[in-house]
Amino acid sequence: MSQPSPSFDLPLAIITLAAGKGSRMRSDLPKVLHTLAGKPMLQHVLDSASQLAGARQYVVIGHGAEQVQAAIAQDVCWAIQQQQQGTGHAVAQALPEVPDDALVLVLYGDVPLITPATLSALLQQTHASKGQDGGLALLTIELVDATGYGRIVRDESGNIQAIVEHKEATPEQRIIREVNTGILAVAARHLRRWLPLLSANNVQGEYYLTDIVALAVAEGIAVRAIHPQHEHEVQGVNDRLQLAGLERVFQRQQADDLLRLGVALADPARLDIRGSLTVGHDVAIDVGCIFEGDVILGDGVTIGPYCVIRNSQLAAATRVEAYCHIDEAAVAQACVVGPYARLRPGADLANGARVGNFCEVKKAHIGAGSKVNHLSYIGDAEVGTNVNIGAGTITCNYDGVNKALTRIGDNAFIGSNSALVAPVAIGANVTIGAGSVIVSPVADHQLAIARGKQRNIDGWQRPVKKC
Ligand code: UD1
Ligand code: CA
Repeated sequence: MSQPSPSFDLPLAIITLAAGKGSRMRSDLPKVLHTLAGKPMLQHVLDSASQLAGARQYVVIGHGAEQVQAAIAQDVCWAIQQQQQGTGHAVAQALPEVPDDALVLVLYGDVPLITPATLSALLQQTHASKGQDGGLALLTIELVDATGYGRIVRDESGNIQAIVEHKEATPEQRIIREVNTGILAVAARHLRRWLPLLSANNVQGEYYLTDIVALAVAEGIAVRAIHPQHEHEVQGVNDRLQLAGLERVFQRQQADDLLRLGVALADPARLDIRGSLTVGHDVAIDVGCIFEGDVILGDGVTIGPYCVIRNSQLAAATRVEAYCHIDEAAVAQACVVGPYARLRPGADLANGARVGNFCEVKKAHIGAGSKVNHLSYIGDAEVGTNVNIGAGTITCNYDGVNKALTRIGDNAFIGSNSALVAPVAIGANVTIGAGSVIVSPVADHQLAIARGKQRNIDGWQRPVKKC
């Protein structure tokens, strides 16, 4: 869903600050690459920002710059900040590339849950000033504990006068509960005037972007603030506790969306979606399931507890029992999978097929109504319709160098514990005796038995222990 762009005619330049080290994550990975719902935090920010119509994105990077660039698959304009000399200095690294007539929106790469709706509302606030370039819009929030944040200082009439950083604030100012989230919008032309005026003559020796507020006030340019809809939208991540907290918020939102769509979730708190989950009517999902990448569940699909399903489609009325792992598989209607089944990439089950406990299927088509129910490996295979694969059957698809194909015709019956040595073709209506090692083709309607012949010896004396 694309948000309307501000009715302002200015092009939109979004500058995301992502140069910080994030020492408190205690990790070699740059902070903004730590994932939330399987996706780097910075990617969340860029994805939300890209929903604002007509936006050009700029990202300021420093720590782990190359790693960050490599991980983000998106066309953005990168600006390198060699030394982290403050948020004002960071914005100044990207500003030369920004067109003069742009409206600039500043975001943080470690504030992942900001929504396009809130950003759109913030951009509207820049209209407050009548001049061609508009005013300064701040996203602020009231916190019970404002420790560490920049405080929003207002005069008696409620007009914003300045932002004072916590470390610079007087005891009176520290009582203020309204804080700066860091997210703001202002015309590039204003920034071009103000950034060179910033000084690092403060407690932290940094160029504070927040000092532009006082400069705007001195010029008589309107400064307006709005609040986000939810506090989590502006919560930043400094350590893994905060990241874990936001992960739960995000997962709960996704679970609530599914409940609203009519999905029966056994427990919305015990579900993880790391990607997109598309659902039909009357889908039911038990506890502890993880969905990754793009997963599509058709009408009436039920997923048992503790399943991991990645980049797969499951058609209507299919049932997945407990503890299954399904990866890049296509499962047609009314199939039954599991418990304890593993469908690997290229597993393709036709209508009504069954793959049961401790079975692995890879790059194999299992025809309609066919059953692979117990302890089997079916890889690189074409299995017809209504085939019964007995317990412990293995397609020997790999000779140590090459993979080869096994074909099994319709209505074949493969006896338990058979080894089908590929390449091999088994015809329709074939019966394979249990325990066979099949190395050559079997024609339609034949019975093939390939195992040692049984001998019975009468009166057999068991060995006795010598003293
Ligand atoms: C900043 C704000 C403060 C606000 C708070 C909200 C300033 C001076 N202060 O403080 O008013 O309440 O955010 O969380 O702006 N960054 C760079 N390069 C730098 C410095 C920072 O890219 O040189 C990035 C960081 O990686 C981070 C973001 O900017 O994503 C904010 O930096 P941080 O140091 O966390 O700012 P705070 O001191 O928390
Ligand atoms: Ca911070």
